[in-house]
Amino acid sequence: MWSVWRRSSGPRCMCSTRIPCGGCAAEFRTEFGTRYPNSRVAYASKAFVNPAIARIVAEEGLGLDVVSGGELAVARAADVPPDTIYFHGNNKTPEELEFALDYGIGQIVVDSFHELEVLDAIAGERGVRQDIMLRLSPGIDAHTHEKTTTGILDSKFGFSIETGDAAKAIRQAMSAANLDLVGIHFHLGSPIFELEPYELGVEVVLNYLTQFKEEGLRLEIFSPGGGFAIGYVRSEPPPQIAEYAESITKYTSRLCEELGFGTPLLVVEPGRSIVGRAGVALYTVGGIKDIPTVRKYVSLDGGMGDNIRPAIYGSEYEAVLASRMSAPPAEVVTLAGKYCESGDVLVKDITMPVVEPGDIIAIPSSGAYAPSMASNYNLNGRPAIVMAKDGDARLIRRRETYADMMMADVF
Ligand SMILES: Cc1ncc(COP(=O)(O)O)c(C=O)c1O
Repeated sequence: MWSVWRRSSGPRCMCSTRIPCGGCAAEFRTEFGTRYPNSRVAYASKAFVNPAIARIVAEEGLGLDVVSGGELAVARAADVPPDTIYFHGNNKTPEELEFALDYGIGQIVVDSFHELEVLDAIAGERGVRQDIMLRLSPGIDAHTHEKTTTGILDSKFGFSIETGDAAKAIRQAMSAANLDLVGIHFHLGSPIFELEPYELGVEVVLNYLTQFKEEGLRLEIFSPGGGFAIGYVRSEPPPQIAEYAESITKYTSRLCEELGFGTPLLVVEPGRSIVGRAGVALYTVGGIKDIPTVRKYVSLDGGMGDNIRPAIYGSEYEAVLASRMSAPPAEVVTLAGKYCESGDVLVKDITMPVVEPGDIIAIPSSGAYAPSMASNYNLNGRPAIVMAKDGDARLIRRRETYADMMMADVF
């Protein structure tokens, strides 16, 4: 199995699958920046990061949102300026917080009372003041998959407005000895195919914050998170980045002005919509099993180890026969992976040309949350990743070897 990663360089790209593109770094910068100049696009590295990607992110003038010491280590290895990075996560360890402070990270987005206390103490030990934001949970359902919904009451993320935790956290953060509360964040889930949840989120959170102005809340940074959708299948096109930008900036500008918050730095955190459509996963066909009147399984040399999304979210993808693009559609097949699970199916019941062993199948929109959630299940190595642009190709991650998979084992 091998993958080709194509960086989208134009504002909207369409490949031969005719699925509308999600976006690219420049498009995000332009669409948000022209409507709201005091804005920053922070790439959510959980979608997929390695040193080559982190370097591009920095070159493109984006900030970086990290959720672990590992992602921060990649950012540091790629010389991403620390002040453009902020750190998310509902259970950052003391070691991760120490690493972040020692690296001089821009902001920590605090997610729990425990973290507030631990971080305050760590900053105190170092004799520094750390800028923080608080992640609030506004109680808004963004109508995405239940496993990726994060802004509702029943969520492990953020301080709930409804329960009173948000108010308590804001007051505790403002009085912390070694922390400066500079901003507020919320993230509703992903992928979000509608604009209304963002508009409602901005409205609910900004209105809620007015009560703390007199108590000294400084809203220097405001973030409605990420979650911008991309086209996975032809039948479900996402809004354009311009539409997301129009909704978010319009509501933020109007409400900030009305409520007297000025023009805080608006941070959006796209992950999937930057790398999702840039990644095309390529698989080689192996065995084919035809169960007459039931199903025809076409087995690929990858599967849930390089893309777990269909197995855990029921995510749908398109696929094309890359080795014979002009072959006519002929039959309905199911593209199965090579892992020892019946649920290891990448695409169920898709019409394709007649497929033969050795054919190459391409699955578009595989750039986000596929390589980053990849595993060594069944001790299969993770695939190589090649970056391609304008006819040039560059290996940015080599295929894993058996030795790589035993590297941390103690004999
Ligand atoms: C806080 C936060 N920001 C941004 C993102 C990125 O979401 P997406 O890749 O859908 O843009 C996530 C995804 O889980 C998130 O939890």
